[in-house]
This record gives sequence, structure tokens and C-alpha cells, in this order.
Amino acid sequence: MKSLMLIFLLHVLLQIMRLPTSQCEAEILQPMDANLMEQTCKQTHFHDLCVSTLQSNGGISSSDVQGLAIIMVKVLQANATETLGHIYSLLQGNPKPGDQVKQALSSCADKYDAVLKADVSVAMEALTKGDYKFALTSANDAANEVASCEAGFSGNSPLTAMNTLVREISVVVSDMVELLLQ
Ligand SMILES: *[C@@H]1O[C@H](CO)[C@@H](O)[C@H](O)[C@H]1NC(C)=O
Repeated sequence: MKSLMLIFLLHVLLQIMRLPTSQCEAEILQPMDANLMEQTCKQTHFHDLCVSTLQSNGGISSSDVQGLAIIMVKVLQANATETLGHIYSLLQGNPKPGDQVKQALSSCADKYDAVLKADVSVAMEALTKGDYKFALTSANDAANEVASCEAGFSGNSPLTAMNTLVREISVVVSDMVELLLQ
């Protein structure tokens, strides 16, 4: 009985001693860049969106925050392009002239056009050059344009899901650029 007890205690002791070592090993084995993504996304307003977006767009091969921000701007561009296409198709649908939804859609088309032609392209160029102040202004402007598109429907928006996604991506870009400016 006594020796069984001793073996049991020894086993428990070994488990306790092993714990920190195995955690340490896990950290060493984890690729540096998964760590970079996690550390970066943790400092944004939308951690989960940030991580999943980077993971599905080659963030793992980026070795710095600048690279991650550039990936995020590309995803912003793709999403804004898709949303603008959707706005055009809704406009072609049927809205009656003078209809409030039609007016809001037209104004959203202008705003998304500005997001793509001005904000996204300026942000991309500024980020590439390391001109982070310009990149920040553009990302914040994109978020504002999208929020104002959504507000134009006064609670009746057919674009809520897309606007929310595009706005959140813009905010993540802005948060990343803030890190670069620190
Ligand atoms: C928009 O962003 C989301 C989130 O990362 C992504 O899953 C989706 O594929 C993007 N859409 C386009 C058209 O790229």
C-alpha cells in the first residue's frame, strides 16, 4: 500500500514538474509568425476577424506588422469592391425614383467609390512607403464613409452585413497602422 502511495505521489510530482517545460516547448515550437499575428490582432478592436482574415490570406509568411497591414488593405479592397458591385446590382433592381432607399444606395455608391479610388489606394501606397500618417487618415476615412453609408438608410439598410464587415476591416487596418506609428 505504502509503495503504491509513493508511486502515485511521485507521478503527481512529475506531472507538476513537467507542466512548465511542456508549455515552454509549445511556445518554442509555435512559428514566430503565428505569434506575430496573435500579438498584433490582440491590439486591434476585432481580434477574431483579424486573425481569421490573416490566416486565410497568407499572414503566416509576413514577418512584420507592415506586411500584415498590407494584407488587410488588400482584403479591404476585395470586400469594398464586392460591396460596391452589390450596390450597383440593387440599384439596377427596381428602386423607385425619389425612393429613400434608392437615394441612400446612390450615395453609398459614391462613398464606396471614394473608399476604393482614394482611401484604399492611398493607404496601400502609404503603407508600402512607410508613410504611416497618410495610411492612418485613409483607413479612418474608409471606416467613416462606410458608417455614413449605413446611416443613410435610417435603420432600413440592405447592406448592414457588408457595411459592418468593411467597417471592421478598416478599423483593424487603422489599429495596425497605430501600432506602426508607436
Ligand atoms: C471579405 O473579408 C472576409 C473576412 O476576412 C473574407 O472572409 C471574405 O472572403 C472577403 N471577401 C472578399 C470578396 O474578398
